[in-house]
Amino acid sequence: VNKGHGVKGLSELGLETLPHQYIQPPQERLDASNEESNKDSIPVIDMSNWDDPEVAQAICDAARKWGFFQIVNHRVPIHVLEDVKDATLKFFALPAEEKLKYSKERSVTNNIRFGTSFTPETEKALEWKDYLSLFFVSVDEAASLWPPICRNQALDYIEASELIVKKLLKILMNGLNVKEIDESTESILMGSKRINLNYYPKCPNPELTVGVGRHSDVSTLTVLLQDDIGGLFVRNTETMKWIHVPPVSGSLVINVGDALQIISNGHYKSVEHRVSANGNGNRISVPIFVCPRPSDIIGPLPEVVQNGEKPLYKHILYSDYVKHFFRKAHDGKATIDFAK
Ligand code: SIN
Ligand code: FE2
Repeated sequence: VNKGHGVKGLSELGLETLPHQYIQPPQERLDASNEESNKDSIPVIDMSNWDDPEVAQAICDAARKWGFFQIVNHRVPIHVLEDVKDATLKFFALPAEEKLKYSKERSVTNNIRFGTSFTPETEKALEWKDYLSLFFVSVDEAASLWPPICRNQALDYIEASELIVKKLLKILMNGLNVKEIDESTESILMGSKRINLNYYPKCPNPELTVGVGRHSDVSTLTVLLQDDIGGLFVRNTETMKWIHVPPVSGSLVINVGDALQIISNGHYKSVEHRVSANGNGNRISVPIFVCPRPSDIIGPLPEVVQNGEKPLYKHILYSDYVKHFFRKAHDGKATIDFAK
């Protein structure tokens, strides 16, 4: 495959058919038979009055039932969201040579990675997606090496989302009876972050492939900015069908990740999701994965299991968990078995 240019390069060749490496087995494709016919979607929660107990209740309920919700009036300025989307388009519009400076082979640090698909070395079928991924514990130490074309916009988005991330985590912890967030819990909740700039080019045979295969996130929380193209689907854990997450202008999509499922002893659900490829246009998304620190040990929080509830997960080193995730192809919810 045309590695250097990623799938954007392939798309721009004007291919009329999908290269065979991208053809997914039928069970991994999305079609009408596995899409929810009831078009109700995940809740959209207005955060204007975020101290209102009803808002807190709606968030905790959504995290227990769906593992996913959208928020509006979240206090991240709309221009910050627009700027990071523009910067994402600008990064991917760079010549291949510029982007390849951040490839696995050439990046000066493992914490910056420009790539295509998810784990091309281990995947049976590739995913129709390119990305730039930036990991950090301290943004001040990391950001000087980020691509200048998107650095400030990514920093502004990260900084502006800090307030809502803290508020959501506080509400979710309260819902578990964790009233005090001490230093070590704070590190487990948000000790490191990863921001991805995702680019899903227009695809010649979208029905045969995927943008991203079935997976759950390894984060505590993910904050996702998507554009107006659509294509993110979430598993309804009751019917096992897929529900579309419609783009809502100015919203952010929030989802529970595996780390929060583990520390909440399963009360909050890290739910499988996927992204379809599409034939109409190029899609971008910009998730911030809010994660424990790699050196943290994570397991069900004492406040959750002190009532005699059986712990569903062991204590594990978070970096081992993440390594396990990145060693295999996307495989639904199987990563969490590592903590059982
Ligand atoms: C992901 O879950 O990996 C990406 C989500 C998206 O692009 O909407
Ligand atoms: Fe995800």
